[in-house]
Amino acid sequence: MDGLKRQAAARALAEVRDGMKLGLGTGSTAKHFVDLLGEKVRSGMKVVGVPTSEATRAQAEACGIALTTLDEIDHLDLTVDGTDEVDPALNLIKGGGGALLREKIVAAASDRMIVIADDSKWVDALGRFPLPIEVIPFGLAATRAEIAEAFAEAGVAGQTVLRTAKDGHVFVTDGGHWIIDAHLGRIADAPRLAWLLSVIPGVVEHGLFIDFAGTVVLAGAQGIRVVERR
Ligand code: 5RP
Repeated sequence: MDGLKRQAAARALAEVRDGMKLGLGTGSTAKHFVDLLGEKVRSGMKVVGVPTSEATRAQAEACGIALTTLDEIDHLDLTVDGTDEVDPALNLIKGGGGALLREKIVAAASDRMIVIADDSKWVDALGRFPLPIEVIPFGLAATRAEIAEAFAEAGVAGQTVLRTAKDGHVFVTDGGHWIIDAHLGRIADAPRLAWLLSVIPGVVEHGLFIDFAGTVVLAGAQGIRVVERR
């Protein structure tokens, strides 16, 4: 699986040009991209990156990739990131690694988003992977009640679990928030659910990335498949 992730990352790297401003994703697949980009930088390519997490920042710095922030620049040429699921409309569930908020801000600031994944991430309908919903700790029970109402309106149901870290404590995102993972099974209308969640005050962001990915690079046993958004 790791070899497939690296193949997808290498295919995305072929889209990177000298001088580009890049969003750098988070997770085990994006890690390969940052690693390969570091090799290019060390052989003379000039790019500047905006990392989507503190983990990616540390990795990119160690690889010698020049970094900036979305305070210093307001637009990026390309973001390359992984995903937890992708459907045929190229909508995504992201946030398994907990970086969904920065990932979405960075992707939104980019002219183009390339998603890299092994082909196990391709699904007919989103929802098999638990949907991460980043919430403010204040008023959690009230926010959970509103999330349940949004699920009912969107015609989905399932258990919601407050994410914990390996040490058993509540998982805290880079932004200081918490994550609720929603086990929905199948989300028939992901754009509608995305909208319903986005208007809940205690929800900072959710892991549905609707209309973000322009290109998806899927690596499988049969080779690489590149899917473009129509
Ligand atoms: C992190 C993410 C990751 O892109 C997603 O979880 C995929 O990770 P991996 O490449 O390790 O499967 O959204 O917030």
